[in-house]
Amino acid sequence: MNASPPGGAPGEGRYGEAFFRPDRAGEAERIDFGALAYDDITMARLRALGAGPGWSCLDIGAGTGTVGRRLLGEAGVASVLAVDRDVRFLDARPAPGLRTLQADVTDPGFAPGSFQLVHARFVLMHLPERDRLIGTLAELVAPGGVLVLSDAVDLTSERGPATPYTTAMRAMWQGLRATIGTDVSSVPAYPHLLRGPGLDQVAAEIHVPPLVPGSAISRFWAGTWQRSRQAMLSTGLIDDAGIDAAVRYLESDACAALSAGMLTAWGWKPGGTAG
Ligand SMILES: C[S@@+](CC[C@H](N)C(=O)[O-])C[C@H]1O[C@@H](n2cnc3c(N)ncnc32)[C@H](O)[C@@H]1O
Repeated sequence: MNASPPGGAPGEGRYGEAFFRPDRAGEAERIDFGALAYDDITMARLRALGAGPGWSCLDIGAGTGTVGRRLLGEAGVASVLAVDRDVRFLDARPAPGLRTLQADVTDPGFAPGSFQLVHARFVLMHLPERDRLIGTLAELVAPGGVLVLSDAVDLTSERGPATPYTTAMRAMWQGLRATIGTDVSSVPAYPHLLRGPGLDQVAAEIHVPPLVPGSAISRFWAGTWQRSRQAMLSTGLIDDAGIDAAVRYLESDACAALSAGMLTAWGWKPGGTAG
């Protein structure tokens, strides 16, 4: 597993501003490709943890709201509060029981209530305040409830093959770290970090979707590279032709690569009866 990309302090830009702007055409579709690749895994885990009738749930950085809607429709939870710094995609797809809140989770005053399930997927990795936020999110879990965090794990390695894909992935992680502070290096430590705020029965798992041409995950990475192109170029590790070659490689039968995985870690708040 690769360590954090080298290269300086986290950038001062923010997710959704310098890169991944919600007002840019295709951003909802990019998030949806990620959701298509991972939602079944997420839902299986949330249901195995007991999410079901009676549960009140908080989804942080809810994106297009796919998890919240499935929690309501398939697991039958009582309510979902879907929080995002920009709720345009959530409000475009309302569902009974789904409330939306436009808020920045890094705001020191962020305190939307107490929930049996607090879930954040592919959010903390983009926020330089992630260590503090794990404590913040743990405080929002009701006694007996569970905090579930999912983020990416980079599976390229220093000794891995030099393919267009690995070059692009390295440039992406390094460029996003330098520009908006995205950092996946601490994701494997999430189980340990969940113990910090006093959660127990902590455990974790990793899912790696296969990079099959035309698959949702392949299209997600291609879209992510297009949107973070300037960050990638700024590393000097890749040029425009290299990014285009990596996209073609992903779409071709020659593709032989390992996607970043999704690590899901969870921990329970002592007390109560929800767990
Ligand atoms: C990569 S998307 C993941 C969306 C969704 N969780 C999923 O997995 O499909 C990250 C989401 O987090 C939101 N986000 C980023 N920074 C945030 C912040 N500081 N506060 C609240 N939401 C934030 C973004 O607007 C975006 O919708």
